Amino acid sequence: MQTFVYHNPTRLIFGEGVTEQLIEQLEPYGSKILLVYGGGSIKRSGLYDHVVKLLQEANKTVFELAGVEPNPRVETARKGVQICKENDVDVILAVGGGSVIDCTKLIAAASLHDADAWDIVQKKVTVERAMPFGTILTLAATGSEMNSGSVITNWETKEKDSWGSPHVFPAFSLLDPRHTVTVPKDHTVYGMVDIMSHCFEQYFHHDENTHVQDRFNEGLLKTVIATAPELLKDLSNITHRETILYAGTMALNGTLSMGVRGDWACHNLEHAISAVHDIPHAGGLAIIFPHWMQHVLQENVERFKQFAIRVFEVHPLGKTDEEIALEGIEKLRVFWTSLGAPERLADYGIEENTLPTIVEQAMENGPFGQFSTLNASDCEAILRASL
Ligand code: NZQ
Ligand code: ZN
Repeated sequence: MQTFVYHNPTRLIFGEGVTEQLIEQLEPYGSKILLVYGGGSIKRSGLYDHVVKLLQEANKTVFELAGVEPNPRVETARKGVQICKENDVDVILAVGGGSVIDCTKLIAAASLHDADAWDIVQKKVTVERAMPFGTILTLAATGSEMNSGSVITNWETKEKDSWGSPHVFPAFSLLDPRHTVTVPKDHTVYGMVDIMSHCFEQYFHHDENTHVQDRFNEGLLKTVIATAPELLKDLSNITHRETILYAGTMALNGTLSMGVRGDWACHNLEHAISAVHDIPHAGGLAIIFPHWMQHVLQENVERFKQFAIRVFEVHPLGKTDEEIALEGIEKLRVFWTSLGAPERLADYGIEENTLPTIVEQAMENGPFGQFSTLNASDCEAILRASL
C-alpha cells in the first residue's frame, strides 16, 4: 500500500426525506444564498418549488444561477462569481447533478480570489479559501457530492480540465434517492457507467497488499452489475435508485483510493473527447474503457485476470491468464452494451478527422496515467480502436 491520509469533511446526509433538513444544514453559514441549478429538470420534477418554499419560509434571501450546462462551462461559473461578489452572498446551494456541483465548486473558490475562474481551473492560481456550499444531488454518477474535484469546460479554447482543492469539499450533501427517479434512461446508464469507471480507475494499479481495497472495489462493481439491469426494467424503483446513489458516492469519495495510486488515464482521454465534441462524459468512457483495457493489458495481466474472475465470474479452467483477462474485458463490453451504452465514437458522429485535435488536447500536460503511461501514439491507438 501507499502511505495515505484520509480526510473527508463533507457531511453526507442520505435517505428518503432528508431534503427537509436543508434549512438546519444551511443555518451556520448565513442567510444570503445563491441557488445554482441546471437546465430545468428540477423545475419539472417539483424539487425547485420545494427548495424555494423551504428557503422562503426560513426568510432566506435567494439569488439564482440557472442553466448550468452538462459539461459546465467557465462562463457560467463567471456569472455565478459575479452574483456572489455583487451581493455578498454567504453560502451556495447546488441542486442537480455533477455538472451543477462542479460549477458551484468553481464559483465558491473564484468568488474569494481576485483571479479569473479559468486561471483556477488551469492551476495558475492556488486556491486558498472558498465559500461554503451544500448540495442536493439529483443524479447518481460523479461522486462530486462528496469529493473535492471539479471538471470545467472552456468551449472557446476546446479545453475540459479537472482541478480540485481541499477547500471545495461540499459542507453538506443531501441525497434522497427519490430525487433521482426522474433521471431518464440514458443518463441513468451513463451514471452507472461512470460509477463503474471510477472503480476501474482505482482498481488498476500496481500497488501491493491492497486486499481490502480490492474487495471494496469489487463489491461496488458487482453491486452495480447486479442492480443495473433491474433498475433499467423499472426506473422508478426507489430501492435500486438508493443502491446506485450510495454506490456513486462511495466510488469517488476517497474510500477506494486509500493506499493505492489510481490511473485516471481514461478520464483524461475522455475529457479531451468531450472538450472537442461535448458528448456526455460516461458515453465517452463506455466507448474507450474496454479499448484502454486491451491496450494496457500486458502491464499487469494478473490484475486483469483477478478482475475477470472476481468481478465478471469468468471460469478460469483450461484458459491461459491472458485468455481469462480478455474474456473479462469482453464481458464488460457486452454488459455495457446490454444496458444501452454507446460502443463506438461513430455513435456520436465522431470521425477520424478530429482524432488529432482530441489527442492534442489530451496531451496538453504531457503523457499521463499511473497504471500505464499513455503518450500521443497510445491515445491515438485507443481512439482508433474506438472509431
Ligand atoms: O441540467 P438539468 O436540466 O438538471 O438536466 C440534467 C442534465 O441534462 C439531467 N438531470 C440531472 N438530474 C436529473 C436530470 N434529469 C432528470 N431528473 C433528474 N433528477 O441529466 C443531465 C446530465 O447531468 P450532469 O450533471 O451533466 O451529469 P453528471 O452528474 O454525470 O455530471 C457530468 C459532469 O461531471 C464531470 C463530467 O466530466 C461532466 O462534466 N465529472 C465530475 C467529476 C467530479 N467532480 O468528481 C468526476 C467525474 O468523473 C466527471 O468527470
Ligand atoms: Zn467519471
